[in-house]
Amino acid sequence: MRFPSKCAATLAAIALATACFGRQPVRARHAMVVTREAHATDAGEAVLEAGGNAIDAAVAVAFTLAVTHPSAGNLGGGGFMLIRFADGRSTFIDFRERAPKAASHDMYIDPATGKPTEESLVGYRASGVPGTVRGMEYAHGKFGSKPWKELLEPAVRLARDGFPVSYALAQTLHGNVSGKLSRFPESKRIFLKDGAFYEAGDTLQQPELARTLERIRTRGAKDFYEGETAQLLAADMKDHGGTITLDDLRNYKVIERQPLEGQYKGYGIITSPPPSSGGVGILQMMGVLEGTDYAKDGAGSAYALHYEAEAMRRYFADRAEHLGDPDFVKVPVKALLDPRYVTKLRESIDPNHATPSAEIHAGDLAPYESAETTHFSIVDAQGNAVAVTYTLNGIFGSGVTATGLGFLLNNEMDDFAPKPGEPNVYGLIQGEANAIAPHKTPLSSMCPTMVTQGGKLYMVLGSPGGPTIINTVLETILNVIDFHMNMQEAVDQPRIHHQWLPDTLTVEKTVSPDTIRLLEQRGHQIRVIPQVGELAAIRVEGQWIEGAPDGRVDGTAKGY
Ligand code: DON
Repeated sequence: MRFPSKCAATLAAIALATACFGRQPVRARHAMVVTREAHATDAGEAVLEAGGNAIDAAVAVAFTLAVTHPSAGNLGGGGFMLIRFADGRSTFIDFRERAPKAASHDMYIDPATGKPTEESLVGYRASGVPGTVRGMEYAHGKFGSKPWKELLEPAVRLARDGFPVSYALAQTLHGNVSGKLSRFPESKRIFLKDGAFYEAGDTLQQPELARTLERIRTRGAKDFYEGETAQLLAADMKDHGGTITLDDLRNYKVIERQPLEGQYKGYGIITSPPPSSGGVGILQMMGVLEGTDYAKDGAGSAYALHYEAEAMRRYFADRAEHLGDPDFVKVPVKALLDPRYVTKLRESIDPNHATPSAEIHAGDLAPYESAETTHFSIVDAQGNAVAVTYTLNGIFGSGVTATGLGFLLNNEMDDFAPKPGEPNVYGLIQGEANAIAPHKTPLSSMCPTMVTQGGKLYMVLGSPGGPTIINTVLETILNVIDFHMNMQEAVDQPRIHHQWLPDTLTVEKTVSPDTIRLLEQRGHQIRVIPQVGELAAIRVEGQWIEGAPDGRVDGTAKGY
């Protein structure tokens, strides 16, 4: 049946209007906080409304997430904080875990079999020296404006008085208390309610964690690294054959670094330097894509996804070989981003055929189970911006809750190459540059990133997801710049991931079957998974600040 033409025109107009408007971000005039958990978002936003700056809000959010998002929010882990000040300066605070003094190259190789053991992932020997508490104190001491005690108040209250368990947290606890956490009595006790699973709506109280947080609130990071918490942690480690000593804790140092900067189509990119492998990757892949017509068929087209995947494949080959802790190995950042090298990479891409990963090798530069990390983004009323990604590495880290202290410990030692040349938990192949050594920082994919436009703050973003982080951040920026999406649309758009090896193009289940078929015809081996990454992003668009949480999880955005 044919509609009268006026009716058809109206329907077409409605369809067009619908097509033009995707999901809208949360909008505010002055300031914005985006995190993956509502209590944390509220805590950060309250600090901003009370006149605190973005660094103050970040401290409040980080300590709150340690209580309300225990699978990744942490005291016993580490991460990166990227700050861009209202006057245009920027800095990068590396509070990532460091290998303990007793760490060694082959510490996770079973001498009998020559194979890596599970000790880099589970139990007391899996942890690097945690950096979160000192990192937060460092950032606050140098750049914060509100009293430390005030910023820790929401976390102390939520740990002491409890908070209602969400449906998602209950599911996560069910899955993990019956798995990894059940191996450690202290973790099992804390994350079971009198021996039974927590259900959505139950109140989770964490009295030991509340006492640890109270000590940190009163005595600062000194408690965690030298005081009562440090003594108890070191003693617990010793009792269970762990590697972290009191000396390791005392010697933990935050490292302030220069962010990595670059350009993409006239936009400024401010991102994470090594020991993050993310910033170098984002800049290299942008360089590869910039000289192509990859966006011509539109967002989500097989043509665009093919080009993105080929750029990803090439960068991850370089990552495997060349990236590591810059304080221990030379990371050839300049060479990896050299326009001649980037051009060579671009020219090696066939628009119609996937290049098998076996044919791709790291450049000669001389001439994934559900896992958890979390990211939050903040912009304050003065125009300062903070992007923090921090983690325990795997979901609930090593599974160990330090006895009497109430916080989980990381399993970040697995981010090293426990056996160079063999895949780690994320299937990543990594080389000697990321081998284990005392005091060394494991290579990370976390990459808090910002984008500027005409010298002004434009985007603030980051994600968890192990190696998928790098590609998730890249794709989201491309969605805004090349595919003209608002911040929320860019976050919602289906994502893909390629990491060179295994030679598989991972796509979210929301990528259309037709597109998958076209990618397969080009030679890609497709793996469909429910979710890639978990963005928390902000865009400053004219007079409005757009906050875009990730609908794939319970993220929230709040501003004023
Ligand atoms: O630093 C890294 O690259 C990893 N420890 C991040 C782990 C992660 O994102 C797990 N999350 N979903």
